[in-house]
Amino acid sequence: MPYTIFAYNCIMNRITINILFLFLVACAPSQKNSETLVNGRNIITRNAMVVSAHPQASYIGASILARGGNAVDAAVATELALAVCYPEAGNLGGGGFMVIRKADGKSFVIDYREKAPGSASRDMFIDGDGNVPEGVSTDTHLASGVPGTPDGMITANSRHGRLPFRDVIQPAIDLAKNGFRITAIQASDLNSNRENFINRNSVNTAFVKDGPWKEGDLLVQEDLARTLERIRDNGREGFYSGVTALLIEEEMKRGNGVISRQDLLTYSASEREPLTSAYRGYRIITVPPPSGGGVILIQLLKMTEQYNFGEWGFNSYQAIHLIAEAERRAFADRAEHLGDPDFMNVRVSQLLDTGYLRSRMSTFDPERATSSADILPGAPGAYSSEQTTHYSVVDKDGNAVSATTTLNGTFGSSIVVQGAGFLLNNQMDDFSVKPGLPNMYGLAGGEINAVSSGKKMLSSMTPVIVEKDGKLFFVAGSPGGSTIPTTVYQIITNVIDYGMGIQESVDAGRFHHQWLPDMITFEKSRIDNTASAALREMGHVLRERSSIGRVSAIMIRADGTIEGGADKRGDNTSCGF
Ligand code: DON
Repeated sequence: MPYTIFAYNCIMNRITINILFLFLVACAPSQKNSETLVNGRNIITRNAMVVSAHPQASYIGASILARGGNAVDAAVATELALAVCYPEAGNLGGGGFMVIRKADGKSFVIDYREKAPGSASRDMFIDGDGNVPEGVSTDTHLASGVPGTPDGMITANSRHGRLPFRDVIQPAIDLAKNGFRITAIQASDLNSNRENFINRNSVNTAFVKDGPWKEGDLLVQEDLARTLERIRDNGREGFYSGVTALLIEEEMKRGNGVISRQDLLTYSASEREPLTSAYRGYRIITVPPPSGGGVILIQLLKMTEQYNFGEWGFNSYQAIHLIAEAERRAFADRAEHLGDPDFMNVRVSQLLDTGYLRSRMSTFDPERATSSADILPGAPGAYSSEQTTHYSVVDKDGNAVSATTTLNGTFGSSIVVQGAGFLLNNQMDDFSVKPGLPNMYGLAGGEINAVSSGKKMLSSMTPVIVEKDGKLFFVAGSPGGSTIPTTVYQIITNVIDYGMGIQESVDAGRFHHQWLPDMITFEKSRIDNTASAALREMGHVLRERSSIGRVSAIMIRADGTIEGGADKRGDNTSCGF
């Protein structure tokens, strides 16, 4: 089928990103495509699309689609490419969640979240005086959970892909070997993290060069290419045993880390039942625990569904007040009631019970902010910066993938496995390392999310797929730590309650409340002064932030064409045909 480009809403943006793209793909692995790919922001195609945080990864994913791969093949190729060209968050050493919706309407979740090592224990981050020394759960070898991404990608490909794994991993190998041109944002990310790379690694890494990085510099990762080749040639054994496992073991010894050979051998990704719910007649498909993101998202949708806030005006003070109050209540529940369901009793159906959620909103005062001190976690059952990355894929048959993956902090712990070229995550900080003490996103949690051997740390990642009339409607997700579920909630309500297209929904201003600290953070210059003054008047504390989230989304429009929603807050790019 010939490719078609329909509309461009933001010509300047498109021109800028296309110049950047042409520059960046100049050394992309050569692909024999039967389709010509279009890319940028504000693009609409007829057949298929990938939106991710980096132009190279979107290009690689879309190339796989053009060669006849399905959405899962493209997702795996995109994620492995992100592990090379977006080391801030793309990874082999991290983990994530993938939602798959097949064209026949069946949906699946692949949980490849990291696990605590076997020797991890509840008080491993607490010293003899009962304090938590700063940085141990974020900046050291102990910060790393057992990586899940390699097995997650192999599982997704073997159960749901169409192309052989070696075909979907090869573009990432070529990218690591030949190098890629970094963007201006990446030059700044690498320069700001320079000291961490130097201080936390005993040898030089690919991420540090003699002088400062500049936009357009070539980043080559030979060790990473060899690790990817071992995975290509040996499957999961290429990472979880053999040479790579040995290199991880040696890295752990060097830095007093605790991930063992046995931890690697026994890690496996799992398939879980998706979490689903209705919202104003649409069907929401998202992730269950050990991500709390899906539960928070559905709680927010259900708590606010009884109000027609679409008529109150977009980002009006009344709508922001309502949503912030729902967020306050949802995040209070998160702290007390969400953790790894393989270890703890997580009462998902009670937390999502409509009667329970209505009762949570019974203290909502349309005129005044409630104080978070007065909002305790509920009793469900009584009623019948950071860097992560999200990509979205839709193929020409209507299969879709929504996946969020992370190392936790930007570049994870900044520790590179010597000889293997990939960064270790610092996901252990997502546990409540000392119950009650807030983590790096200010999220407090209780015993339910305490550290335990082999347990998964609670996540906020919220990949989502939305159906309309039983058909695929849109795919979305975002990074942003605690702000992920509230960002995804706003993408959904922007479309459903405010009638926005997907790029418009992604561009729109965002805000966030997470119970504690008791404040609404909002994007500077995206919420008008009258609304912020009215919210302060109602008793809310407001704090400006330069940006919240970096969404990658795709929508199927009424005429069947496909619209990309690529966030200009980052280098996010849509690519399709
Ligand atoms: O799993 C989580 O919820 C966090 N580790 C995500 C971190 C994140 O999104 C950082 N990005 N901005």
